[in-house]
Amino acid sequence: MKNKATGKSYAKIIWFGEHSVVYGKPAIAIPIYSVDVTATIQKATDGHQIHCRYFDGPIDELAENLLGVKTLINHLINLFGAQNVGFDLDIQSKLPAERGMGSSAATAIALVRAFFAFFEVNLTRDQLLKLANIEEKITHGNPSGLDSATASSNMPIWFIKNEINEQIDFNLPTSSLVIADSGIKGKTSEAVSLVHNNIVDEPENAEPLIDHLGSIAETARDALATADDELLGKLMNQSQYDLSRLGVSNQTLDTFCRVANDNHALGAKLTGSGLGGCVIALAKNQADAQQISTALRQAGATQTWIQSFKNYQFSTGEAHDNLVR
Ligand code: MEV
Repeated sequence: MKNKATGKSYAKIIWFGEHSVVYGKPAIAIPIYSVDVTATIQKATDGHQIHCRYFDGPIDELAENLLGVKTLINHLINLFGAQNVGFDLDIQSKLPAERGMGSSAATAIALVRAFFAFFEVNLTRDQLLKLANIEEKITHGNPSGLDSATASSNMPIWFIKNEINEQIDFNLPTSSLVIADSGIKGKTSEAVSLVHNNIVDEPENAEPLIDHLGSIAETARDALATADDELLGKLMNQSQYDLSRLGVSNQTLDTFCRVANDNHALGAKLTGSGLGGCVIALAKNQADAQQISTALRQAGATQTWIQSFKNYQFSTGEAHDNLVR
């Protein structure tokens, strides 16, 4: 066992396929390298203390809204027979919580990595995702696994629930994504239930929307392969239309998409569960990205990021920080 160990993970942005991914359709998601979570475990004389932005104290006293994290930590303590090993756990997160950037999954991934590093045990990707899912199931009910799969990946992923989780690369040398936080909490379990209820109550309306979102993701994968950013933008607008008809957009997100498109975006959509959270807009070049970012802040975005794509290629090696704030 080490004296101190850390585990790291990333924020994620779902580019295409949120909600439809729950129903077996493909999704494309990308890690945002500079928006990360680091969990650090350090040996202590006794007890199990946790320090994070929501709580400072014994792990046993973690509040109900952090039950997923608490259950995961207790599971890891049992896994390593560490009931009598004293430690302090520190979680530093740059992710805004409940904004569709996968905050809970990223925390779970960082925690699992930190525990395995602390106890000096090798961790497979499969084990990592299964363990992270312990937290995600409690926090989000019935997660597709897309958030954990992306938070644990250093490359964009192509994902089909329980079937495919593969890293992809692409080359969009000049364009970038603008990410804008509405400042409104996204409500993942509420949004997932809302879509489920729509499918049960009005299958004739909702099912074609889910199918269409799936076929958009397929087309987007081809558009990425041919670096067709104009088409990607159009597909983003079509996704936003479908997601809005499924009921998971809101006035602020709709306004942000309109503002982005009025300021030269190639397309814009909500990302993640919706009902709050973030909007993403595709910009053809850096100047457009800056203009879109400024316009979104003027329209009320609490925070914006500009993510270039220049490091999303296998050939460039391990991706690294290319995010401008
Ligand atoms: C939430 O980040 C993404 C959803 O598709 C739910 C899920 O995939 O579990 C809305």
